[in-house]
Amino acid sequence: PQSLVLARGGSPLVVGESAAGLFAASDVPAIAASGMKLMALREGELARLQAGRVRFFDRELRPVEGEALVCDVAREGVEKGEYAHFMQKEMKEIPAVMARSVLDLLSDARYTALVAALGRAKRIQMVACGTAYHSALCAKYAIESLARIPTEVYIASEYRYARPIVQRDTLVFAVSQSGETADTLAAASLARELGAPVVAVTNVPYSSLTRLAHFVLPTDAGREVAVAATKSFSAQLCVLYSVAVALARIKRGVGELASLTALPLLADRAQAAGSAVGAWTAHFCRAKSVYFIGRGQDYCAALEGSLKLKEISYLPGEGYPAGELKHGTLALVDDVTPVVAVMTGRALAEKTMNAVHEVYARGAKVFLITPFARYAAREEVFSSVLIPACEEAFSPALSVLPLQQLAYCVALARGNDPDKPRNLAKSVTVE
Ligand code: M6R
Repeated sequence: PQSLVLARGGSPLVVGESAAGLFAASDVPAIAASGMKLMALREGELARLQAGRVRFFDRELRPVEGEALVCDVAREGVEKGEYAHFMQKEMKEIPAVMARSVLDLLSDARYTALVAALGRAKRIQMVACGTAYHSALCAKYAIESLARIPTEVYIASEYRYARPIVQRDTLVFAVSQSGETADTLAAASLARELGAPVVAVTNVPYSSLTRLAHFVLPTDAGREVAVAATKSFSAQLCVLYSVAVALARIKRGVGELASLTALPLLADRAQAAGSAVGAWTAHFCRAKSVYFIGRGQDYCAALEGSLKLKEISYLPGEGYPAGELKHGTLALVDDVTPVVAVMTGRALAEKTMNAVHEVYARGAKVFLITPFARYAAREEVFSSVLIPACEEAFSPALSVLPLQQLAYCVALARGNDPDKPRNLAKSVTVE
């Protein structure tokens, strides 16, 4: 009586101690309050909460110190303020978040050891889930095109069972907003066991992933409350693109940060242009399914646009490589299927237009996201958003912004709460 025993087995577990009492949860934001002392249990540890105090034990019930967590509660405690939803507020924060998340790795003393590991790396693997997986895919494109380092991206739950080949010179990045996603943690642990240096790219400095990794690259998005990830995606892109620039300089002596530091201003403009998607909403609300197409980096943005729409509007659909449509999926396209085409790559624009033409010929309405005004004017295009041009390898940082806005508008029009999609949790701490 009057005591509570906690045991950590697999999922994270944190304890908070304050004048208001003792609290326990799987993640800090659930309990964090001003003046609270926060402590984490390590894997296999136990804690007893009794008579207003907490004591920690190892598996053999020997007393141990709880792992103190440093958490800036004032910064963590977010309010919606003037916004109707957290998602809307978090999208608005994106330009500022991007500005904070571009890292000059080569001249920042905090990253000297990581830069040395980048210099040794001949192959890169990335593990992540959901939106973080899409940011890793975007990063693969940038790293391979700018630095020419082979990069494999794994869905974390697949990596664990894929018998991944980790060699002496393989560097593994684990990307996770929360740093608590069970599959990503397990994949990162496996990479560690296999001998790879592990780099955590995470938004939560006190997360399990931070503690597990050899190196940490923080994303500085601030706390993200909405289940649909938006600003954390932008922050992950900026951090991973910073890695691409650093690798390009180390391995090939080319690449400038300037193309990255330009992004926040351009993001602001892309969002202003993206507000036009409000007028697209009616065409999506009643659709049975929606397809997002693109090539290369645009395909990565298409995947993320599709995931955003699915999770908050509950509309089925797919992100698809534009050139692959005719190998099967085209059969699903008819005159009530909206198709969103992302087209930022100059060299492949005509080829993407071929796919646009194919779906147009089947009666589909095509909605285009592009920096190229001449394609927006083509008769196959029903409506378009003109985003600013940027270094092509980084264009998902801009092209995804109208797609997030579209998902938000469609969710509202369908009467859904975009902050709390059904069946989903912000952080997935079980396999
Ligand atoms: O915290 P994580 O970045 O590891 O979360 C991964 C996914 O669960 C997450 O990105 C999920 O897909 C989002 N709800 C997408 O908006």
